Amino acid sequence: MTKEHCKLQMPNTSDVSNLEIQKGTLGPDVIDITKLYHEKSLFTYDPGFVSTASCRSKITYIDGDEGVLLYRGYPVEQLAKSSNFIEVAYLLLYGELPNKSMLNDFSESIIHHTMLNEGMLRLFNGFRYDAHPMAMVSAIVGSMSAYYHDTMDINSARAREIFAHRIIAKLPTIAAAAYKHSVGQPFMYPSNSLSYCENLLHMFFSVPAENNNIDPVAVEALDLLFILHADHEQNCSTSTVRMAGSSGANPYSAIAAGISALWGPAHGGANEAVLKMLVEIGSKKNIEKYIARAKDKDDPFRLMGFGHRVYKNYDPRAKIIRDMCHKVLNQKGRADSPLLELALALEDVALNDEYFIEKNLYPNVDFYSGIIYQALGIPTSMFTVMFAIGRTVGWVAHWREMITDPNGKISRPRQLYIGEKERNYINLDNR
Ligand code: ACO
Repeated sequence: MTKEHCKLQMPNTSDVSNLEIQKGTLGPDVIDITKLYHEKSLFTYDPGFVSTASCRSKITYIDGDEGVLLYRGYPVEQLAKSSNFIEVAYLLLYGELPNKSMLNDFSESIIHHTMLNEGMLRLFNGFRYDAHPMAMVSAIVGSMSAYYHDTMDINSARAREIFAHRIIAKLPTIAAAAYKHSVGQPFMYPSNSLSYCENLLHMFFSVPAENNNIDPVAVEALDLLFILHADHEQNCSTSTVRMAGSSGANPYSAIAAGISALWGPAHGGANEAVLKMLVEIGSKKNIEKYIARAKDKDDPFRLMGFGHRVYKNYDPRAKIIRDMCHKVLNQKGRADSPLLELALALEDVALNDEYFIEKNLYPNVDFYSGIIYQALGIPTSMFTVMFAIGRTVGWVAHWREMITDPNGKISRPRQLYIGEKERNYINLDNR
């Protein structure tokens, strides 16, 4: 698109002055351009949705300049300090904090949906031992639509609710089965006497011959990480869930699509990439070399766990995770972990570097989380699966909001076509 084209196609102010401005509760106003094409034959162009609000939502608010994150209006710092993952899940799904009996009912419902259909467990045997757990988890979640027919009616509020509880409850069981398959151990069944995170650790680290002692600090750390991962408004995977679901596809397929989107290193896959990067950097003496590479436009290397589309300030989640990192490593007697020292030194160098300052690049949620997972004995390839467990709540909350939105439509963007104009087919012999 040349500048000349730009001038020719730009509407003058009077052309667009009748566009409606919509105001939210917080954050920038939006220009409603839904009638732009029908009235002016114009599209808007915004690759990556940098300036586009794709929907109206009541779930999560982010102020990226100030480093603010609110779930249903509650600051994430307060929830991280005083709440727990199951309560946060309730809040995100239903919009309000539960009273004691509501929380108890919700918690019981989640506990009683943790088992998988046995046929689904057998599906794992079809995967190679070295299959990436994200490949297994997205495939198994997609296959839930072949097992749980009672929740396929997206127009039934009750079916939607059962689906929500079921998938939140089963994600840890699926994640643990993927892990067990990769290490060749028998699957462990969930136990109804354990909390959400205790159960996860049990299914990961117990074997039929011996129960693993569940470490309360590990439970606290996982619960915190799941709270911080639970939602982040219209991020790539959540938008994917909304988009896939907008066609009326069953919710398991929509969540499976979200899991696949999360896997990318620019998104949730960054936690795995951060750890691999730290191992590759290896020592503080190599930091300058890698910082130089991150700044080099001709080098595809990026500082993983740094930068964010929305945060132009310290990601509030990264601060909380960094503190938990110290707590977990202290408790494990590894306060002087070389990996944490390297990460802290890397952060320090980057935060004082002109390039990172000018571009507002700060550590994001993925920078420190892998160090915690590693200290808990969770293998690197499972890190993004752990993220998916927490984010499932957000995906489900957004899917439910999307399905019941009276303005809901199938997501179907348009494009600026820059290909060939119409031309005639040439027979093979004449080419
Ligand atoms: N290292 C080096 N340079 C970076 C980094 C980084 N981690 N992140 C952004 N930049 C630079 C870009 O090269 C670009 O420079 P330019 O303006 O000179 O071209 C500028 O900062 C803006 O970056 P964009 O890629 O345009 O920003 P965008 O909002 O599209 O991308 C993203 C955000 C994908 C998170 C990016 O910062 C990144 O790739 N970070 C590393 C991967 C990562 O940690 N992802 C996890 C994000 S959190 C999450 O999704 C859970």
